[in-house]
Amino acid sequence: MKIIIAENYKELSRRAANMISAQIILKSDSVLGLATGSTPVGIYDQLAERYQTGDLDFSQIFTVNLDEYYGLSAEDRQSYHYYMTKYLFSRVNLSKAHCFLPDGTNLDSRTECKRYQNLIEDLGGIDLQLLGLGHNGHIGFNEPADFFEKEVHLVNLTEQTIQANQRFFESAKEVPRQAYTMGIGTIFQARKILLAVSGKEKAEALYQVAKGRICPQVPGSILQIHPDVTVIADKGAAELF
Ligand code: GLP
Repeated sequence: MKIIIAENYKELSRRAANMISAQIILKSDSVLGLATGSTPVGIYDQLAERYQTGDLDFSQIFTVNLDEYYGLSAEDRQSYHYYMTKYLFSRVNLSKAHCFLPDGTNLDSRTECKRYQNLIEDLGGIDLQLLGLGHNGHIGFNEPADFFEKEVHLVNLTEQTIQANQRFFESAKEVPRQAYTMGIGTIFQARKILLAVSGKEKAEALYQVAKGRICPQVPGSILQIHPDVTVIADKGAAELF
């Protein structure tokens, strides 16, 4: 696990965008695994800017997102689909037919999990997976548990995650209680992983992920044994190193 400490959020975003840009330039038909939340917003801004300046071409790129809220449609302003359209898809020349997320409106979880897992495999797997980190060490929506879930699955969100994500909703009551997420195995099969972490409030989680015991109670800790992981953290998030 390579750890890069950035001066601040802007620097973190720039460095993470550098890595994603390199991937796009070196392999123009890459499959990028994408994340949501506040952390990647600056990274997507950078990528959009580089597309505007003519430095990046997304026309052959494929994207697969980590997760989506169960029950929310692409048109719902709180869905991850909506977020991706707003922050990235509408700002670069990604083909709509190349951008994939779990379908929150498919309430039949068995078929939806299978469909999304197969879709990722049919694309040939993920070349570079961007991850954020939850306050409890979750990646995607893989919450602390007694075992690592391998494949795409439907998860019950923890109270801590519901509280953390309520800032995007009118109230905690409106945060969906369940979500579809790539499993730890799905994420682990990505050829390269980039974990971006910002802010003091993530310092303990990042420390456990990078230096703690590898256990499903800290889902991100599994990344310690992946062969190609880069962590980009700002000074706040890295304060316990
Ligand atoms: C959500 C997402 C995660 C993300 C996490 C942290 O729970 N499912 O993929 O990493 O939030 O988000 P933020 O960057 O807003 O702290």
